[in-house]
Amino acid sequence: MSEQRIGGTTGSAQIPNRTTHITGWGHEVPAATLTNADLEKIVETSDEWITTRTGIRERRIASKGETTASMGALAAARALGVAGIKADDVDLIVVATLTPDHLMPSTAVLIKGALGSTRAAAFDLSAACSGFAYAYAVAHGFLTAGLGQRALVIGAETLSRSVDWSDRSTCVLFGDGAGAIVLEALDLEAGQGAASRPGTLSFELSADPSGAYALWIPGGVGEGADPLIKMDGAKTYVYATRTMAAVATAAIERAGLTPAQVDLVIPHQANIRIIEHVSKAINYPMEKIFVNLDKYGNTSAASIPIALSEAVAAGRLKPGDVFCTVAFGGGYTSGAFVTRWGADPAHGARAASVDPASIRVVRPEGGAKADEPPAVLQAFLDRRHR
Ligand SMILES: CC(C)(COP(=O)(O)OP(=O)(O)OC[C@H]1O[C@@H](n2cnc3c(N)ncnc32)[C@H](O)[C@@H]1OP(=O)(O)O)[C@@H](O)C(=O)NCCC(=O)NCCS
Repeated sequence: MSEQRIGGTTGSAQIPNRTTHITGWGHEVPAATLTNADLEKIVETSDEWITTRTGIRERRIASKGETTASMGALAAARALGVAGIKADDVDLIVVATLTPDHLMPSTAVLIKGALGSTRAAAFDLSAACSGFAYAYAVAHGFLTAGLGQRALVIGAETLSRSVDWSDRSTCVLFGDGAGAIVLEALDLEAGQGAASRPGTLSFELSADPSGAYALWIPGGVGEGADPLIKMDGAKTYVYATRTMAAVATAAIERAGLTPAQVDLVIPHQANIRIIEHVSKAINYPMEKIFVNLDKYGNTSAASIPIALSEAVAAGRLKPGDVFCTVAFGGGYTSGAFVTRWGADPAHGARAASVDPASIRVVRPEGGAKADEPPAVLQAFLDRRHR
């Protein structure tokens, strides 16, 4: 009774000479902004301390009703629009997030519903700030194995609801938002070497349990489960600088390239000092590294797809360019991938045709806790309506 089956992703064959390429991209960030000056009114901090230690000047905060699923769905709808395809052209939806609306259902299923997809397989993936690199790798594996033709890969977070707003060592760092890409299978012509091969070229993923409790959210289902982020900042800083340089170098080498052959690096947007350290460590100029953390802070799994979407819009990627993304995060995890860009950046304009009002996430009866911003931020969220 196939007509009763919702979903429809099937396949078994390993396809030779197949890779993937990005054909759609998009992002969504909340309208409400929380500046460093605002944070001076919440915790004992200063704009000067935050700016010099991190490079962050402001971050976006989800208002009531904005959630990981709603932002992820809008970013995904824009990516579909840019790719020029419909929701039912997608075989797989993977959402990288550490702030899902619920433990169950997955955010990916909520996004599938909001997009009106009837057939995609959908699930969430947990690899903290490295989540987008992990999700991209999983989708690439799915498509090159012949399990489908197209995937939506989404990174989305509502970190403002998982931050302890009385802990100045963490609350100044994080922000909310979502980014998405459409990844499509691409059959290669015989004999295309690293210097000319289109699409995805390489990955490097790692996980280091020695940092498991240096950056973590106790959460889970235990008694007194705590949803708030805890962090050993100094230890995480050391891990970040070492692993970012190492995984970026490994991914670039695995692609058969040298750093000089990479046109753009899109790093996880956690801290400008970490990014500058990586620039020196791999001898790669800051001018070729995309940075937007001053506007958004650390949006965890969303940071790279938001940055990618903005980089294309800013004209930083053109067909034939090679870019490398590199991330680190809780776990500890890290991940990098190298891709040759092939899409026409002008397709980005198609995202404007998506009407946000048409993308609605189904909420449970009586509303959901995931919809509510922290009370301490309410005054800052209200002021934009004044
Ligand atoms: C958090 C981080 C910015 C701190 O920077 P730092 O240079 O290590 O900070 P310093 O050691 O110079 O300063 C620490 C001092 O600043 C204080 N401090 C911490 N947060 C502060 C804030 N928001 N405002 C003012 N002072 C602050 C601390 O209490 C400490 O004071 P003390 O020395 O009196 O104990 C840095 O460690 C970092 O970026 N770590 C990685 C975090 C990260 O990226 N996490 C996400 C991973 S995906």
